[in-house]
Amino acid sequence: MSQRLINPVYKQFPVRQIWLFCTILMLLAPEHARAQSEGKKLFEKNCSVCHKLGGGKLVGPELVGITQIRDREWLVKFIHDSKALIESGDPLAVQVFEENNKIPMQAFPNLSDSEVNAIIDYIDAWEPEAEKTFTVDVNQKTGFTHTEILRGERMFYGLIPFENGGKTACNSCHNTVISDTLNWSPSAADLAQSFMDPNGMNIYASMAEPGSEVMTKAHAEYKLTEQEVYNIAAYLSEFGHKGMEKQRSFPERRILFIVFAVLMTLALIDLIFTRIVKYRFIHTGILLIGIAVHLNIAVVEAQNLSRTKDYAPDQPIKFSHKIHAGDNQTDCRYCHSIADYSKSAGIPSNDVCMKCHNVVLSGRNSGKFEINKIYRADKSGKPVEWIRVYTLPDHAFFSHSQHVNAGQIECETCHGPVAEMDILKQYTDLSMGWCVNCHRDTKVNFQGNHFYKSYKELNDMLQSGRIDSVTVEQVGGIDCSKCHY
Ligand code: HEC
Ligand code: HEC
Ligand code: HEC
Ligand code: HEC
Ligand code: HEC
Ligand code: HEC
Ligand code: HEC
Repeated sequence: MSQRLINPVYKQFPVRQIWLFCTILMLLAPEHARAQSEGKKLFEKNCSVCHKLGGGKLVGPELVGITQIRDREWLVKFIHDSKALIESGDPLAVQVFEENNKIPMQAFPNLSDSEVNAIIDYIDAWEPEAEKTFTVDVNQKTGFTHTEILRGERMFYGLIPFENGGKTACNSCHNTVISDTLNWSPSAADLAQSFMDPNGMNIYASMAEPGSEVMTKAHAEYKLTEQEVYNIAAYLSEFGHKGMEKQRSFPERRILFIVFAVLMTLALIDLIFTRIVKYRFIHTGILLIGIAVHLNIAVVEAQNLSRTKDYAPDQPIKFSHKIHAGDNQTDCRYCHSIADYSKSAGIPSNDVCMKCHNVVLSGRNSGKFEINKIYRADKSGKPVEWIRVYTLPDHAFFSHSQHVNAGQIECETCHGPVAEMDILKQYTDLSMGWCVNCHRDTKVNFQGNHFYKSYKELNDMLQSGRIDSVTVEQVGGIDCSKCHY
């Protein structure tokens, strides 16, 4: 039935041919561009660490023009496994190797022939980018007009629609207020800082061509015009001055504290003595709210003093112990390397991060942004200012080597399940009671530990079987002078 209906149509129009033609066009036309962009992607992923196109020698030699002086078959072999080619005695490979100070190139056995060819095609077709002309001043970082800033702010908050679509407000990912939940996207203040930093991002380039998979996904809906990016830049430059809004600032909290203290006193006086207000629920209400407000303030203040369990400050880089010590199982001592020998455990320097992040360029949650901060610190020479989480007052003495080396106590006993924490938080209250209780309950490894040779009496008692173990307390672990200067 349907056949019969359609068939006459075929006779009138060459529908099938047109359809076929269109399909072939659709398949063919973007094919070249697709291959080109695949080659580009593969090059950037595998080769750009060592080779720069059009930029001269990096680790490996300049590759622009290489397709003119080398045979393609040779190139494919060399790229797959240069070492094998050199070892086989191929004179050209040996020559290249020697000309480059005998630095070997890593092998790429996992790239298919067609992938290697796509890379070679990309190198072959590479051309320096034509000088782009911009409609706005892309180098401007200050001196924006009030209107430009305001317009940028409205765009950032999603109040003015973008010309080429994209409805999600930027601030739904890039926080403009301090939040206490983990947000892997950079905050607006982070963006502003990176924008103002001479080593930071080029916002026009990165909005036009996102630098990581994470960002490609997150920014998929946007195609901002230069003018729009300019306005966002204006807003960011202003935001850099203004900074993130705190949820509630300290003076306000203090006023709130005093107001409720006065109200509560009045309510109590009236409840017990003056009895002017008849309705009891008013007194109870004021008292209950007052107590809640005071408790809340006490908690926030205590947290600000960093002397409390669960303290978890925002760090300058979103460093996650869960990803490093958990998922990737990096040993604690790889980064906290002095814990066994010294009083401190040590916070790793930038060099330690660079050992891996030389090659790990982006993360699955934060993309490139957080890892870029490591490179920026590296370039500027300024160390990352990590905020201390665990701190004892000056009058108390604590040594890591004593506990993790002599005492063989696991890090997790005192610091909790660190390998599960995205944001590190204080696990214990660090009170004197915590130290002393553990010293009362924990047995020391007494025998065979030369540190305790001098405790003759205890050694004799152990030997004769009168006691079967010795606690930290028995070796003086709760003497005031052991912990206090
Ligand atoms: C770890 C650094 C490194 C990486 C990554 C790397 N190369 Fe190399 N490449 C080198 C070095 C060093 C040489 C020169 C010496 C040698 O290996 O014999 C070289 C040489 C070459 C040569 C030969 C140049 C000539 O004069 O004939 C080609 C072609 C080449 N690389 C292509 C690639 C491609 C394509 C990739 C990515 C798939 C890549 N390289 C990845 C370091 C690297
Ligand atoms: C032993 C290697 C190693 C060291 C040392 C290292 N990292 Fe990483 N880092 C990784 C790996 C692997 C990833 C995971 C990439 C992924 O799969 O998301 C990563 C991811 C990250 C991320 C991105 C997380 C995400 O999911 O977006 C940040 C930020 C980061 N590291 C910061 C640091 C800092 C800061 C240091 C130094 C204190 C450091 N790293 C040291 C290996 C390392
Ligand atoms: C769905 C969440 C999301 C939204 C919405 C979003 N972004 Fe992003 N943006 C991200 C993430 C995640 C990154 C970090 C990725 C990276 O650096 O690899 C990022 C990075 C950036 C960067 C830094 C690029 C760099 O090179 O360092 C800029 C600038 C930026 N966004 C601007 C905007 C603007 C402007 C908007 C609104 C038009 C916006 N973003 C909307 C998630 C988002
Ligand atoms: C890849 C490096 C790396 C590894 C591996 C690592 N850490 Fe850390 N650690 C850091 C950095 C960087 C900081 C500072 C930032 C922070 O507090 O999150 C830190 C902070 C800490 C702190 C808080 C220090 C303070 O400020 O008082 C503790 C406790 C800690 N780490 C314990 C551990 C334990 C336990 C492990 C193993 C399960 C571990 N770390 C593995 C890099 C690392
Ligand atoms: C017996 C409990 C205990 C054990 C076990 C312990 N720590 Fe600590 N850690 C502390 C205390 C207490 C502090 C605060 C020290 C201070 O302020 O002087 C601290 C501080 C730190 C710091 C902050 C920076 C510094 O240099 O002091 C890091 C990092 C740290 N610990 C990592 C570790 C790692 C990694 C391990 C395991 C190898 C470990 N800790 C084992 C109790 C412990
Ligand atoms: C998880 C149990 C535990 C906790 C918590 C703990 N310690 Fe200890 N501490 C030990 C053990 C076990 C030893 C004995 C180590 C050895 O074998 O030498 C020790 C030894 C010491 C010594 C040396 C005592 C001596 O006789 O020479 C000092 C000082 C000390 N701890 C201070 C502290 C301080 C300060 C704190 C709290 C901030 C603390 N410790 C928390 C288990 C603990
Ligand atoms: C095992 C280690 C340890 C021993 C033993 C110890 N202290 Fe402490 N003490 C601490 C630590 C850690 C703190 C800091 C905790 C805090 O501020 O809450 C502290 C705090 C104090 C404080 C100040 C309290 C405050 O609120 O600031 C006093 C006073 C004090 N200790 C006296 C003593 C006396 C007296 C002894 C002997 C009977 C003693 N300590 C034995 C670890 C110890």
